[in-house]
Amino acid sequence: MKPSVYVTRAIPEETLAALRAHFDVEVNPDDRALSAGELRRAVRGRAAIVSLLTDRIDAELLDAAGPGCRIVANYAVGFNNFDLAAATARGVVLTNTPGVLDDATATHTMALLLATARRLAEADRFVRAGKWHGWAPLFFLGQDVDGKVLGIAGAGRIGRNVARKARAFDMQILYADAVRNEAFERDVGARMVDKETLLRQSDFLSLHLPLTGETRHYIDAAALSRMQPSAVLINASRGPVVDERALVAALRAGTIAGAGLDVYENEPELAAGLAECENVVLAPHIASATRRTRLDMGAIVARNVIKVLGGEAPDCCVNPDVLRPRG
Ligand code: GLV
Ligand code: GLV
Repeated sequence: MKPSVYVTRAIPEETLAALRAHFDVEVNPDDRALSAGELRRAVRGRAAIVSLLTDRIDAELLDAAGPGCRIVANYAVGFNNFDLAAATARGVVLTNTPGVLDDATATHTMALLLATARRLAEADRFVRAGKWHGWAPLFFLGQDVDGKVLGIAGAGRIGRNVARKARAFDMQILYADAVRNEAFERDVGARMVDKETLLRQSDFLSLHLPLTGETRHYIDAAALSRMQPSAVLINASRGPVVDERALVAALRAGTIAGAGLDVYENEPELAAGLAECENVVLAPHIASATRRTRLDMGAIVARNVIKVLGGEAPDCCVNPDVLRPRG
């Protein structure tokens, strides 16, 4: 009998075909995220689960899957939906999809930055509403991007990719991270600074931090108050890295000038008042949403599941302790 793999929501057909070549694959037939209870029932007895960032993978879920479950492969690079310790304690390998979505995510980050600086979403609404009466010298003035300071919070693969793209706009790069990256500094002329300096000196501040206990509300009311009134905040990482209610208050008060957001604290809900702010560009968590990228993410997912169920180590394990021999 082939091992049983459960996929919590439809992903590209090519990925499902790669999995079906080796396993019995069942896919959630509904195009919606399952509730925790539905998920627990669906995963019972599975050898592998392909999960989404909207699925909470914790002790309860893993116990519901049972002792035969060997891998949960996230169809995402972020993995804050995983309880790493619970999986490690149960010998379950957890994987993500790093690398293949850096370009798509960084390009989307730049799109948000440019759109926010040049008020593109607001301008689009204006034109569609029939309010435009022709060219005027002081009409719809936005912000310069060229030569401005881009602050990168979190200089991982995606943050560094954004910085490289921003160099084409002659942006000066500052970054804050736990570790210094001299190759990155040479590559884009970036300068490492502390968080305080990053907040105070960035014309545009872009967040590329994983969501952890420490990064939750990295941008809170106090952080916003240190930013320049002309500053723009960009977030295509995880919503809870920003205190969204504090952000709405800051946008209303003019503490900062604008924000470009792809992610939200309580998706798909928005904080009260956010949608009414003209100076924000809002995207529905689509930074990696290109056809090629989603196929490449699927290829990594399939490879990880095939390797782990075949007794090999996966390409990208986010709880590597689980792979160490047990004493
Ligand atoms: C998307 O948000 C991802 O983590 O892949
Ligand atoms: C603007 O359209 C210009 O020609 O300056």
